[in-house]
Amino acid sequence: MAHFSDFQNDIYLRGRLSDEVPALTTDLLALEAAARQTLGRGPFTYVAGAAGGGATARANREALERRRIVPRMLRDVGERDLSVTLFGATLPAPVLLAPVGVQSIVHPDGELATARAASGLGLPMVVSTVSSYPLEEVAAAGGDGPRWFQLYCPKDRDVAAALLGRARKAGYSALVVTLDTFMMGWRPGDLDRAYLPFLRLEGLADYLTEPAFLAGIAPEQRADDFARVAHWAGMFGDPTLTWDDLAFVREHWDGPVVLKGIQHPDDARRARDAGMDGVVVSNHGGRQVDGATASLDALPGVVEAVGADLTVLFDSGVRTGADVVKALALGARAVLLGRPYMYGLGLGGQAGVEHVLKCLLAEFDLTVALSGGRTLADLTPALLAPHVRD
Ligand code: FNR
Repeated sequence: MAHFSDFQNDIYLRGRLSDEVPALTTDLLALEAAARQTLGRGPFTYVAGAAGGGATARANREALERRRIVPRMLRDVGERDLSVTLFGATLPAPVLLAPVGVQSIVHPDGELATARAASGLGLPMVVSTVSSYPLEEVAAAGGDGPRWFQLYCPKDRDVAAALLGRARKAGYSALVVTLDTFMMGWRPGDLDRAYLPFLRLEGLADYLTEPAFLAGIAPEQRADDFARVAHWAGMFGDPTLTWDDLAFVREHWDGPVVLKGIQHPDDARRARDAGMDGVVVSNHGGRQVDGATASLDALPGVVEAVGADLTVLFDSGVRTGADVVKALALGARAVLLGRPYMYGLGLGGQAGVEHVLKCLLAEFDLTVALSGGRTLADLTPALLAPHVRD
């Protein structure tokens, strides 16, 4: 039986046979530094940066590092199955590609490259509303691979409904509604450069190909960049959204709906009571509320509140295979990977994303095995050192 850990053998074998070494580092924590050397200042800072002083981004990492695995021995882990079933679809591993917008700022192929890489490994790509390529083109690039769509609910509900209709038609199976970014957090790294890619019309492909969007611009101004950006800026986020608005989403999406950005158990309960199918425990990688709690610290409370009823996913700070083990041990059904695959994309296009994903999966598989696990059912709080378990 093939295992993700085989990637490790491949690397050593290729080195032995043809003196080949990996084009990118296998240390997923070192990718950010590699990207810093290569990417332009504006794009690098946009991806790597966080809100305010970065306290929450650091806390995300600190919370993952604070937890410690206590490996168990002599458990026959020769055959392992790390698959997980989410909303009726079986995935080879509990990892999704987080919705990340404007991918063309790090590589011209943007989401198309990411979709090809994700599809090759059978991992779902969650495609952002603010993609550099229209959602139909990203779907086509991903072929038969699983894909979910992420919605930033526009103020103009006709545009929202139209985008949802297009996503359904293009074969997106689940919807992720991101709640935490109806306004952009205070991000000094971007502010100091006055760098916001959307204002250069990057990341607006879904809107600019949407008749319901264009209908809101006077015909003689539709070709004018400034008019298009202004129209987008006026509808991108809706700070007036409430729980009642989820009925609109339900009305326009007949598949599973997952709310992203949940940190409080009471909000998770409200998601359940509103008939949602899942939540992503996420603080947007520390990009929104600086000073907010570490996402991993929020996870156990949400799992306790709704874990039996909803699919609880996790993101913010995941970098290594051990991080995936820890998040699953604390009750997440799967994790979303964010910045690391963007660094892979920037450094190596599709091959770079593939490399990052294969490294993560191999390290995850090895960590599970070396900790005495064979399936995801073995990843429970009991695998973590008691004094730092939650
Ligand atoms: C994001 N994220 C995000 N989330 C979302 O729902 N829609 C989006 O368009 C974006 N765009 C985006 C751009 C960039 C550059 C980053 C880094 C992040 C948030 C993303 O889905 C995820 O929550 C975080 O990236 C998780 O944190 P880590 O893993 O990057 O630390």
